[in-house]
Amino acid sequence: MSDKIIIFDTTLRDGEQALNASLSVHEKLQIALAIERLGVDVMEVGFPVSSPGDFESVQKIAATIKNSRVCALSRAIEGDIKACGDALSVAEQFRIHTFISTSDVHVKEKLRCDFQDVLDMAVKAVKYARTFTDDVEFSCEDAGRTPIDNLCRMVEMAIKAGATTVNIPDTVGYTLPDEFSGIITQLFNRVPNIDQAVISVHCHNDMGLAVANSLAAVNAGARQIECTVNGIGERAGNAALEEIAMILRTREKQLNLSTNIKHTEISRTSKLVSHLCNMPVQANKAIVGGNAFSHSSGIHQDGVLKSRSTYEIMTPESVGINQNKLNLTSRSGRHVIKHRMAELGYLETDFDLEELYKDFLILADKKGQVFDDDLEAMLFMEQQDHKQDHYKLDYLSVQSGLNVIATASIQLSTGDKTAEKAATGNGPVDALFSAIRQAIDFEFDVVSYRISAKGEGEDSLGQVELIVAWQGRNFHGFGLATDIIEASAKALVHVLNNIYRAQTVALLKQQSQAPTNVNTG
Ligand code: KIV
Ligand code: ZN
Repeated sequence: MSDKIIIFDTTLRDGEQALNASLSVHEKLQIALAIERLGVDVMEVGFPVSSPGDFESVQKIAATIKNSRVCALSRAIEGDIKACGDALSVAEQFRIHTFISTSDVHVKEKLRCDFQDVLDMAVKAVKYARTFTDDVEFSCEDAGRTPIDNLCRMVEMAIKAGATTVNIPDTVGYTLPDEFSGIITQLFNRVPNIDQAVISVHCHNDMGLAVANSLAAVNAGARQIECTVNGIGERAGNAALEEIAMILRTREKQLNLSTNIKHTEISRTSKLVSHLCNMPVQANKAIVGGNAFSHSSGIHQDGVLKSRSTYEIMTPESVGINQNKLNLTSRSGRHVIKHRMAELGYLETDFDLEELYKDFLILADKKGQVFDDDLEAMLFMEQQDHKQDHYKLDYLSVQSGLNVIATASIQLSTGDKTAEKAATGNGPVDALFSAIRQAIDFEFDVVSYRISAKGEGEDSLGQVELIVAWQGRNFHGFGLATDIIEASAKALVHVLNNIYRAQTVALLKQQSQAPTNVNTG
């Protein structure tokens, strides 16, 4: 029997903190549900003291998720730990993760104290966290650059204080695989109470070694790996969950290690995270890149046609990629759409068949043929929570062309008021955004605007991803339509609704005097 590796997913904490625009509570919940279905053992879903929005999303996820243990992050500070305890207390069982830096450079330059102070703070923090839960994880931030004697002392004291998991992060992605496994081996050889906690690793990918370092560490005895979907995270990101899971599955016999990950959920989860986080996956990314299972050269194609095993060490089906193509047209009935969605790995509860079918028919009439990508894109749009929308675009007309001044007219509903506005601009999107600006009562800056084709063919859907800055925070919006101006309008209205939700949450929290705005160390 192979040994189980605990998969600790930190997409919604380390991953989310590195995004250009923070996710809404609804979006975080969608990701949490997908990660639960993926089969992760523990999910770290936020840093509750950092903002009222984070507190609210941690609480909501903790109340919803049943099959993975939910965890939240705190510095080794009483207020942070209490915020975790308060946000997580709605769950039957939960984990508090507290951390402090242990490397010389962090202790001296960042914390400006000495190692004994850090030891004392860590012990106090772990003991306090244990008053909320018996599942406490302690991390030695920048462990990869911490003198080994100090690291051994810290790990021993944290376990003595009650930590049940001790995490050894390579915070800056500096170590080499042999070096990192050497650190883990020394801990196992020198820390007398090491058998009383699970040893975890958390590797960053600054030199592209996060996955290799994580594997080296489990070979030396670590039994928890911290990782993120698509490897998103600070700077170059974290170890990629899908790579870890597929390595352990593909080489299980040699490694004698396994996980609880449901591999066929990988592709679907990766797409959802990429879409909601506005983080495209590079085409040649292992496991989830668009080209990860395509064979380009004639020699390879010839080999694969003779036997897939010539060039495929994993099948696309094993990560949930469905290779069969179906010709969907406006003549396809509801049952065909339902069947196709099931083949793509979606549960009936993931979508409203009537809504999806309605959108499908409109698109099929416009495009003739509808592809899997189109279906998934429509599903993602449908999953946006429009019921609560404060801003709604009722009407849009745009004129543009050669030697014509681009002009846009719109009607926008804001709560129970409506405004009709018209504006010109140096192009149709500029005119459209100017008209919408006139209809709202606050200023914003467009940070980035990206348009891409979703699906196959000339008549594929246009997808607009927008980042807007408002009061020092970035907000993300997404729009999809066969008309790229309509897609741009939808993306901006999506952003406006996300800003409105953030304003409402901040107001509610101000009224209840919750702690606000600190950043992870
Ligand atoms: O990279 C790191 O050290 C972290 C800790 C907070 C675990 O993310
Ligand atoms: Zn990290």
